[in-house]
Amino acid sequence: MYFEIEPKSRKQDFFDYDYEYGQVKKALQRKEKIIAVVGVRRVGKTSLLNLVYNETKCLKLWLDGRIVSEPKKELFAAIYETVKIGKPKIFGKIESLNVSAFGVGFGIKLSSESQTEIEKKIRTAGQICVFIDEAQRMKAKELADVLSYFYDRFPQVSFIISGSEIGLVEEILGQTDAEHPLYGRDIAKVVMERLDRNRSAEYLKAGFGQLGMKIHKEEIEDAVAELDGLIGWLTLYGYERGVKRSQNALAKTSQNAARIAASELVHFFKKVKNKKLYISILRNTDGIGWDELRSRTGKTMGEQLNPNQFNFALEKLSAYSFVEKKDQKYHLSDPLLQKAIFLA
Ligand SMILES: Nc1ncnc2c1ncn2[C@@H]1O[C@H](COP(=O)(O)OP(=O)(O)OP(=O)(O)O)[C@@H](O)[C@H]1O
Ligand SMILES: [Mg+2]
Repeated sequence: MYFEIEPKSRKQDFFDYDYEYGQVKKALQRKEKIIAVVGVRRVGKTSLLNLVYNETKCLKLWLDGRIVSEPKKELFAAIYETVKIGKPKIFGKIESLNVSAFGVGFGIKLSSESQTEIEKKIRTAGQICVFIDEAQRMKAKELADVLSYFYDRFPQVSFIISGSEIGLVEEILGQTDAEHPLYGRDIAKVVMERLDRNRSAEYLKAGFGQLGMKIHKEEIEDAVAELDGLIGWLTLYGYERGVKRSQNALAKTSQNAARIAASELVHFFKKVKNKKLYISILRNTDGIGWDELRSRTGKTMGEQLNPNQFNFALEKLSAYSFVEKKDQKYHLSDPLLQKAIFLA
């Protein structure tokens, strides 16, 4: 069923994205060593990984990047642990639409066997598929080191990593930086985009159809206009309207969604110095170019903005995927961020 809010794990519950799904499957069949699934929040990355994880026959493990505090030790230990038990293993829950797993750490320790012994066992275990969700939450440099180490020494290990903070995933993959540990290595990149308006409407219709409900065209159009192609929000709406049968389902969804987006903003704001500048940029990001955005942000702040400082903040918002740049124009990655700002 489409309107369940957990990440999907079966193909029949997963709408569309056939192309991206096929790309990941094919890359795995080709035994690519690093496959990166990137896309903004709520676009369906965890679900896609989950589907592939369930269908993959090789020895596999799933790690949630949010609970890995020391990638070098823990990744190695998790892979070895899986090899030892010879069965698939999930480290950390497969989660959606909330942020409850922050910074717990699962503290696996490497066993006392020698490094050579461990490496030998990993090497002789056949194909191993390591799924890492929310990879950007790990220390970028350390993860990149681990990936390049495995890339060079264990050709039968594939990493399938996903992340919503696209700029940070790029940092892990470092394709443009000759000094980077992964520079020059092959990476299969699969980008998940939002659904367009037609597909969004089709998704909602199909989901309500599964529930035996026929919803007015206008109602569907209103939902699509408000929730803008992010399948996570459309699913939340379908759940509210179709499963819970709430009154004012759209208003409730958009409030809940804004609350979730706000909690992510709060988390982000803790990392930056000048919160007011970031808020002002977000408030003015509306499909405009760099100069105009800078000048409007300056007006909101009531001061002339230093271009470097402004650019630094804008780049940071882009790295964390709150802002997206398309054809030299800046857009919010999620229109609900506009509401979320007032809650953050
Ligand atoms: N193709 C799909 N068909 C049906 N429902 C989907 C699909 N993709 C995602 N969903 C639903 O959308 C919501 C978000 O999905 P998911 O958690 O997979 O996205 P995500 O990109 O990993 O999000 P986040 O960035 O928050 O981790 C979930 O409720 C999930 O069930
Ligand atoms: Mg996810």
